[in-house]
Amino acid sequence: MRAIIISSPDHLSIYELSNPEPAPGEVRVKIFAAALNRRDHWIKKGIYRDSKYPVVPGSDGAGIVDMLGDGVSKDLLNQEVIINPAINWGDNPNFHSEKFQILGLPEQGTMAEYVCVPAENIIKKPSFYSFEKAAALPLAGLTAYRALFTRGGLESNQKVLITGAGGGVSMFMIKYAHAIGATVFVTSSSEKKIKKAQQIGATDGVLYSSNDWDKQLQEKQPEGFDLIVDGAGGENFDLFFSLLHTGGKIVIYGGTAGKLPEIIPAKIFWKQISVLGTTMGSPFDFENMISFIHKHRIEPEIDKIFPLEDAELSFKHMESQEQFGKIVIKIG
Ligand SMILES: NC(=O)c1ccc[n+]([C@@H]2O[C@H](COP(=O)([O-])OP(=O)(O)OC[C@H]3O[C@@H](n4cnc5c(N)ncnc54)[C@H](OP(=O)(O)O)[C@@H]3O)[C@@H](O)[C@H]2O)c1
Repeated sequence: MRAIIISSPDHLSIYELSNPEPAPGEVRVKIFAAALNRRDHWIKKGIYRDSKYPVVPGSDGAGIVDMLGDGVSKDLLNQEVIINPAINWGDNPNFHSEKFQILGLPEQGTMAEYVCVPAENIIKKPSFYSFEKAAALPLAGLTAYRALFTRGGLESNQKVLITGAGGGVSMFMIKYAHAIGATVFVTSSSEKKIKKAQQIGATDGVLYSSNDWDKQLQEKQPEGFDLIVDGAGGENFDLFFSLLHTGGKIVIYGGTAGKLPEIIPAKIFWKQISVLGTTMGSPFDFENMISFIHKHRIEPEIDKIFPLEDAELSFKHMESQEQFGKIVIKIG
């Protein structure tokens, strides 16, 4: 099979590898499309936790089940599926087990013509999705669902601030929050992306690159936010506390902009603020997310689809941070 192999921060190529065979309890999926997440970029740079070379990256994929391991139901053969990349979450919906892994490191990922995964990690592709749309969904869609609803508890009458509107996770959150009738504000590096966010459900937004972005948000939303969901962190993080109203929540799912600043404890305790972390989601979150997608006919925003041969360009595109939504690689 052909597979994308990263062998150093500057070297990504397509190689021929032998086809993998499913172990007992696994299925093999013939991949038609894969999608990038910022994790793949960190892995390429060698700065993701437990990074190693060489690696076949990719957490997101969709395709057809073409081989079954022992003990797997024959009904799964030839099904069109999406892969849930949260492997071995475990039984506790509140947090993952010690054996938890994300597909695409250390095990072979989806940026290959075939991948083997536990049978419990596949789910039928929604019939209204192409394989490209299906590949764009899993990691970002799941993270967005858990961050917004399971952890953030967002309700229809509430106001949410979603940072970095152009990101894959943020794009899903904007759509999900809008679908339930919540009021959505965003931050972004570009006016163009704020406009795009408005087209998919945001009410308004501000540039996080401007000096007074927090003041601008306070003017736009004087009564404060119920929930802020942030994937960036960085030195401006403490400004979020004054944007929340009393009893508000911050859910953190990423740290693209780096370390948090020193924070005065009173900023958190005086307003009874909850600061919560979240990572991907449980099998229960994944099922709920798929039901939500069906109910609200949510479709991913795909920024660009690259052919497998241009995989290197797809990584460069993510690095440039020009995208709005998901970057997909067509494999089959
Ligand atoms: N915990 C988890 O399970 C989980 C799951 C998925 C992702 N993540 C993490 O979440 C982050 C986003 O992931 P992704 O896959 O959605 O990445 P992505 O598609 O590459 O999006 C990254 C976005 O970050 C935004 N950004 C950059 N600097 C920012 C800043 N200073 N303030 C606010 N926003 C900023 C940019 O938004 P604009 O383009 O609008 O400027 C950019 O588009 C990454 O750190 C990733 O590792 C964690």
